[in-house]
Amino acid sequence: MSSVAVIYFSKTGNTEAMAEAVRAGMEEYEGDVEVELASVAEFDPADLTEYEGIILGSPTYYGIVAAPMKEFLDESISVHGDLSGKYGAAFASCGIEGGGSETTCLTLVKAMMVHGMTVKGFHDIGHYGPVSVGEPGADKKEECRQVGREIATIVAED
Ligand SMILES: Cc1cc2nc3c(=O)[nH]c(=O)nc-3n(C[C@H](O)[C@H](O)[C@H](O)COP(=O)(O)O)c2cc1C
Repeated sequence: MSSVAVIYFSKTGNTEAMAEAVRAGMEEYEGDVEVELASVAEFDPADLTEYEGIILGSPTYYGIVAAPMKEFLDESISVHGDLSGKYGAAFASCGIEGGGSETTCLTLVKAMMVHGMTVKGFHDIGHYGPVSVGEPGADKKEECRQVGREIATIVAED
């Protein structure tokens, strides 16, 4: 069975709500895909090798990812070279419109590309991954579920 890790940092719950919606979308996929939802504090980067898909989410802190997510990315050097070809996607939250959540998504996307991963873009929702200003509403949660469904489909049918 294919498996996907949804890994996030969240201090006040907005990014965590997005992560839960991504997981809900994966569970909507009617196939054999296992999903692990974990905060960066709960997930050992060395375990990334066990998943076919990796979806990362972070709040925007000063235009980029929050420090705990950056630390997680830096620690993932322990598996550098072993994630090549895995599938990835990103999502982010921020405080204000134009507050930098797209650059946060791109920071996550770039890190996954440095690992040699194949990162999913989206033509019909947030192109670099869903972005939410504050708490995600129904529309943003649906975008997150779409990401979950699409990544589940890719890893299950690859
Ligand atoms: C240290 C810090 C820096 C932040 N920097 C930004 C920023 O550059 N742009 C922005 O729009 N929001 C910024 N915010 C707001 C958060 O991105 C926003 O509240 C986010 O939804 C929090 O996610 P969380 O609830 O998952 O912790 C910042 C918040 C903190 C605590």
